Amino acid sequence: MKRVAVLTSGGDAPGMNAALRAVVRVGATQGLEVIGVRQGYTGLIGGQLQPLGPRDVAGIIHLGGTMLGSARSQEFRTPEGRDCALRVLGQNRVDGLVVIGGNGSLSGAHALSQTGFPVIGVASTIDNDVNGADITIGVDTALNTALEAIDRLKTTASSHQRAFVVEVMGRAHGYLALMAGIAGGADVVVIPEVESDPDDVAVALRGAYTRGKRHAMVVVAEGAKWNAAALADYFAHHRERIGFELRATILGHVQRGGGPGAFDRLLASRTAAAAVERLVAGEAGIFTALVKGVVAALPLERVITPKPPPDPDLVRLATLLAR
Ligand code: F6P
Repeated sequence: MKRVAVLTSGGDAPGMNAALRAVVRVGATQGLEVIGVRQGYTGLIGGQLQPLGPRDVAGIIHLGGTMLGSARSQEFRTPEGRDCALRVLGQNRVDGLVVIGGNGSLSGAHALSQTGFPVIGVASTIDNDVNGADITIGVDTALNTALEAIDRLKTTASSHQRAFVVEVMGRAHGYLALMAGIAGGADVVVIPEVESDPDDVAVALRGAYTRGKRHAMVVVAEGAKWNAAALADYFAHHRERIGFELRATILGHVQRGGGPGAFDRLLASRTAAAAVERLVAGEAGIFTALVKGVVAALPLERVITPKPPPDPDLVRLATLLAR
């Protein structure tokens, strides 16, 4: 293995730059030439390549986003798109590819690796929906960003004795919302994996109002059927059910922006370094991640199966603590 390409793909996540830096620097230490691919799989198909040396990735470990850019490529989902990518890799004498991304990106990596081309993934998404990974790059920072917002909303909510519905990202998964709800002291958490409706929310908010609370907090996952807009609309017409006046805030991409915290810088550095070392050692068709507390590798095909729902004990804890 002489020349390795690296790309970042899908929704960006705080820590992607730290992962990129580790790939380039560990690659250089292993005697590899590292080629950066701009704009994810779209750039791979389009041949947007640039050589990256250790100095090119200086001063980025603390930066959010990804210096290579990212994209969601529809073309790469097709066999023709992947053939085109393989041609570009061949023309540029690339021997292996490191893909830094989440579920969709790692599924793409799996499809490419099925052709026999050596590919290794690095699990990185704020959604924490990669099957087999304890926690992916970006989750911890996104969670802290959501918590800062929740803490701020509580102060204004208290002044006006209001309830807030705060919607957090996570696509179809409720991990971010559940953790933000527990750590942010939510009165009720609504996630796609657990069936709930406005009645459950009404009972929790009415209880908080009756107990004399100055504020109440509902944390909802964007993928839940009763998301922030739906709940706000419902309670605009049923305020008598909750007592509080209700406001909704959608955190959106704020959670994806900003520099990574210590946890994500370390996780990114460790898992990306492991990916390169394994590629050099001849391994492929795998992705690196934190698994049961240690940096490990799992088969890429694992990402095709959806991640199981969050631990029921955590769901129970969220309810237990809301008093
Ligand atoms: O996968 C990361 C994520 O931020 C999801 O939480 C969210 O649903 C989605 O990406 C938003 O995608 P986009 O940035 O393309 O609108």
